[in-house]
Amino acid sequence: MLRGADVDLTRGEVVGLVGENGSGKSTLMKILVGSLTRDGGTIERTGSLGYCPQEPILYQRLTCDEHFELFGEAYGLDAADIDRSRDEVYDVLGFGRWAGARVEELSGGTRAKLNLGLALLPDPEILLLDEPYAGFDWDTYQRFWEITATRRDQGHSLLIISHFITDEDRFDRIYDLRDGRTVPR
Ligand SMILES: Nc1ncnc2c1ncn2[C@@H]1O[C@H](COP(=O)(O)OP(=O)(O)OP(=O)(O)O)[C@@H](O)[C@H]1O
Ligand SMILES: [Mg+2]
Repeated sequence: MLRGADVDLTRGEVVGLVGENGSGKSTLMKILVGSLTRDGGTIERTGSLGYCPQEPILYQRLTCDEHFELFGEAYGLDAADIDRSRDEVYDVLGFGRWAGARVEELSGGTRAKLNLGLALLPDPEILLLDEPYAGFDWDTYQRFWEITATRRDQGHSLLIISHFITDEDRFDRIYDLRDGRTVPR
């Protein structure tokens, strides 16, 4: 149960949310995104939002390209923007060779890349990422931090959930979620 969880995120910040399994990290993020209703509290937000759920929400029979098209249209992007942004994601996360492959053919790590890529696609001002790099190999993990640095330098904000943090210096601030409360480190 969450009681007294309080997170703020300002422009150009990378903030970590850490806590043991079942501490409520995903629940808190779903509340922030609005996919779960809250019993109490307030949320204030200015700026567009991108969300990468812990469990990828993907369609087994659709290809990576088809996902980008579908999500891009849902975000209201025009075709040229979708193509440009999609190619950037393929390039930086290194899974362009799977562009025409259906999700059911993809490895777990490649699915995780697609899941993250879909959140990055509209280049949102606020990115909420739930264990985005759990399934990544080392190279991709490093690329992930390049992406976050670029977005942060553009003035965007990122909240990143992790159940352990190996690179503490990659974060501007870290919250520990304990007994339903966020404790700044
Ligand atoms: N809508 C809800 N109402 C009440 N309890 C819930 C609700 N959603 C999730 N929970 C419970 O809250 C607890 C925290 O789950 P959550 O998935 O947020 O943990 P987590 O910190 O993300 O864990 P993990 O590191 O395993 O991903 C779980 O015991 C879950 O069953
Ligand atoms: Mg979780």
